[in-house]
Amino acid sequence: MTQPAPAVIILLGPPGAGKGTQARMLEEDFGLIQLSTGDLLRAAVARGTPAGLAAKAVMEAGALVSDDIVLAILKDRMAEPDVARGVTLDGFPRTRGQAEALDALLAASGQRVTAAVSLEVDDAAMVDRIAGRHTCATCGEGYHDSFKQPAVAGVCDKCGGTAFKRRADDKAETVAARLAAYHAETAPLIAYYAAKGVLDRVDAMGPIPDIRAALARIVGGVAA
Ligand code: AP5
Repeated sequence: MTQPAPAVIILLGPPGAGKGTQARMLEEDFGLIQLSTGDLLRAAVARGTPAGLAAKAVMEAGALVSDDIVLAILKDRMAEPDVARGVTLDGFPRTRGQAEALDALLAASGQRVTAAVSLEVDDAAMVDRIAGRHTCATCGEGYHDSFKQPAVAGVCDKCGGTAFKRRADDKAETVAARLAAYHAETAPLIAYYAAKGVLDRVDAMGPIPDIRAALARIVGGVAA
């Protein structure tokens, strides 16, 4: 009997839409591996690899890193064995070129995008969301000063860590550049996936558990 192809879920949305928050929840709910190109790039910057050195200034300016660099990092990660469980792509693809390269990469192993979900939000609210964001320095669990606090103040719910960090590109002026890049380069992918018949839209302005439930209905209906 042939095995069903692993699910490939794409989360589209501007900075602060909740892609990372919901991708981590899809990992808990469905075992789908969260694959964030932003996290992979930040790890490359921290390690000082050639890709990281090339990406650092671009990310700090809020612009998009070149397709060549992002695709090289993405392909390496997609080749790791845990990806066979299925993935949620968080922050990828972000350009038409990346979307077409993903289609080709998946087609080479008989796969295709299972669902692309557009998390729909108001730009104005995104600056508040991003300004309050911080993550556990130990396990990376995400929090927000107002919207998602740990049960015990200063202690990570997931791992008990007590150190938290904030991102270098979460300044108001950089967030404006990131929003502009989203509208110019990434928002057109909503039509790209609609034309392929795999697009769902979710109102992502509500509480995190409501969005989690909406995504669970979508992913539960299509994931192997
Ligand atoms: P990346 O790391 O992908 O950042 P982003 O797309 O700007 O998205 P964010 O991580 O800021 O937001 P999110 O949607 O994940 O929201 P989150 O869940 O954290 O990219 C960073 C940079 O890397 C880019 O600018 C670019 O330079 C480069 N890059 C990355 N991928 C690339 C690619 N493919 N091509 C080229 N360049 C690339 O939520 C935000 C906050 O809000 C959190 O505190 C959370 O707790 C809170 N929150 C979440 N949901 C809700 C809710 N419903 N209500 C209230 N608060 C909420």
